[in-house]
Amino acid sequence: MELDVKNSPAADPRADETPALAGKHLVLGLSGGIACYKSAELCRALIKAGATVQVVMTEAAEQFITPVTMQALSGRPVYTSQWDSREPNSMAHINLSREADAILVAPCSADFMAKLLHGRADDLLSLMCLARPMDKVPLLIAPAMNREMYAHPATQRNFVQLEADGARVLGVGNGFQACGETGDGRMLEPEQLLEDIIAFFVPKVLAGQRVLITAGPTYEAIDPVRGITNLSSGKMGFAIARAAREAGAEVTLVAGPVALPAPRGVTRIDVKSAQNMLDAVTGRAQAATIFIAAAAVADWRPALAAEQKIKKDGSGTPPQLEFTENADILATLAQSPAAQAGRLFCVGFAAESHDLLQHAQAKRLRKQVPLLVGNIGPDTFGQDDNALLLVDANGSAELPRASKLSLARQLVLEIANRIAAVPESGPSARPSPQKNKP
Ligand code: CTP
Repeated sequence: MELDVKNSPAADPRADETPALAGKHLVLGLSGGIACYKSAELCRALIKAGATVQVVMTEAAEQFITPVTMQALSGRPVYTSQWDSREPNSMAHINLSREADAILVAPCSADFMAKLLHGRADDLLSLMCLARPMDKVPLLIAPAMNREMYAHPATQRNFVQLEADGARVLGVGNGFQACGETGDGRMLEPEQLLEDIIAFFVPKVLAGQRVLITAGPTYEAIDPVRGITNLSSGKMGFAIARAAREAGAEVTLVAGPVALPAPRGVTRIDVKSAQNMLDAVTGRAQAATIFIAAAAVADWRPALAAEQKIKKDGSGTPPQLEFTENADILATLAQSPAAQAGRLFCVGFAAESHDLLQHAQAKRLRKQVPLLVGNIGPDTFGQDDNALLLVDANGSAELPRASKLSLARQLVLEIANRIAAVPESGPSARPSPQKNKP
């Protein structure tokens, strides 16, 4: 029976999705720095992602942004002093840290880092960081400082030591600084920090795995100004890259021409044509343990791209183009010794317009991959949501319409389950939890 994965587009399927930080309670600590203005946006973003946020500010932070702003955004009174009398036991540092799922210091100034490093505790925020139960309440810090302060050996030493002491030091951005200089040391942007914090809480089901992903369309040149491409936006492949990184994998994303930013922590290789994509993938496949072919690779390319723009000759007759077939990247990797020996788990996609189940099953067998993910191309190209049909040797299962990120996270779990189930036993022998038998 054909499965209908074309759910009604009328209702937004993302409306029902559980926000990524639902149920998480975060203490957002602000130390003194101009980046405090970004913390207002960060606070909003954390709340939008489902978290509850308790803001704690140092005296220096209050020079840059008011507690009133942070209270309005977090919906909770802000704590600024260890002598705060609102807590009945007068122990704000204990009470606030005990109920937190994590403490995030953003911005974390160079001075505050040095303070943490020495275990000093002369204000509420540092006192709370020191007093937190280290095994239950992780400490994440988002440094923010001038580029010279950032590059100073003392600061670099402090980064290393703070990590060794169990803190998670998030990166810094590069660019124009409030002081007028340009370089490393800017606090990461709120959406980057949000991505890192969400990733921090995701179970690391792909830890130790090296995932290679293709995404987006390819572009096959006809002449220097024209080419053949398709409507793939790359969103699904980019979402999978993000989800795989969240799950602890080392991720390389080989992307055709798309205008999407790379997910945090993912190595991105930009390519244009199918041949470029094949070259980029084959050069990296040796190191990979999972290959996911989400790209909409052009099946054919003009046999010979003209060196100069093809001009109309006035006859009204269009030029005759000859085509040659591109190599099948997925099939090439699926037939590699690593894949055949079960060291490279290959996942293919099928973009179809109709008869999804039949086409996906046939494609899985043709490409010799253990798992093939079917979707209806016209229903999803360029959109933020999709519906997937997973097909493997045992049957098929639907992942109903949802955001591409949500589907990507589900797909990552499916892949992790299959890899965990049968280590190195060959590509066709992996079982799966099935809903529909073939
Ligand atoms: N694929 C690939 N290299 C190609 C063509 C496709 O790696 N030259 C991969 C895609 O990334 C996808 C899968 O193969 O994972 C199926 O792609 P799709 O375009 O749906 O199918 P085709 O193999 O092109 O077959 P058809 O166009 O006949 O449906």
